[in-house]
Amino acid sequence: MKIDFSDQVAVVTGGASGIGEACVQVLAAAGARVVVADRNLAAAQAVAAANGGTAVALDVGDEASVDAAVAAVEAQCGVPRVLVNSAGVLQRTLPPEELTLREWDFVARVDLRGTYLCCARFGAAMARAGGGAIVNIASVAGMGSGPLHSYGPAKAGVINLTECLAAEWGPKKVRMNAVSPGFTRTPALEKGVATRTLASQDMTANSALGRLVQAREIAQAVAFLASQQASAITGINLPVDAGYLVAIPWASYGGLRTCR
Ligand SMILES: NC(=O)c1ccc[n+]([C@@H]2O[C@H](COP(=O)([O-])OP(=O)(O)OC[C@H]3O[C@@H](n4cnc5c(N)ncnc54)[C@H](O)[C@@H]3O)[C@@H](O)[C@H]2O)c1
Repeated sequence: MKIDFSDQVAVVTGGASGIGEACVQVLAAAGARVVVADRNLAAAQAVAAANGGTAVALDVGDEASVDAAVAAVEAQCGVPRVLVNSAGVLQRTLPPEELTLREWDFVARVDLRGTYLCCARFGAAMARAGGGAIVNIASVAGMGSGPLHSYGPAKAGVINLTECLAAEWGPKKVRMNAVSPGFTRTPALEKGVATRTLASQDMTANSALGRLVQAREIAQAVAFLASQQASAITGINLPVDAGYLVAIPWASYGGLRTCR
């Protein structure tokens, strides 16, 4: 069966860049009427124009902004059948002694509160309208320990809230799933490399496939989970990580064989 979103409205938060933009492209190519929802309206408009969609300004951490976006989408296009929550910010790898609570709150506000708020408001509309599919972009950082003391817990929270809401709204035919990317080539990752928060060589050495993930590869997993092909799948977290999670324990044994 071919993935087909014809006549379906799909909202992508953070759709103006990186993984969100790739989701917009893949969903639009499969027939969806995409709504690019982002705090960067000019970039959102450009991505929307390139993919036959519309744009809406949105700050996912702000309740009034999310409510206004839900109302605007409903008025312009109707209740969406698909929501992808990709809006997010990365974090500097600081120890707790240096990580200010202000920075901790900033990351948690976008990545956890923002994802929950969009799920809660768009999901409630989907539940009232008879169903839909939500895919949250979590992270492998939310599946284990790392030097990201706000980002990691926020993403772990995204995985858990996906499970909670999957059980809550299953009876109303709203499916909820998460995708956890490994290191993925996007503007945010390039910035991390430029500021030396991330090192390209370490990221590829700790990946079974020996490479970074492409944003399009995340988008294809998202499209599958949002589609009818995944009609019995809800409450899961799917890592798309080029084999990062399976490679990491090998570091204690000298690394993957090809890296020795
Ligand atoms: N790139 C990676 O390696 C990687 C790995 C794991 C998870 N992720 C997750 O994937 C998602 C997308 O990341 P990316 O690498 O594509 O980043 P990106 O910076 O390229 O794109 C993020 C988008 O989110 C938007 N955004 C940020 N804060 C917002 C807010 N408050 N309201 C609305 N929009 C907002 C930005 O304007 C931008 O368009 C994030 O949730 C990130 O945590 C990325």
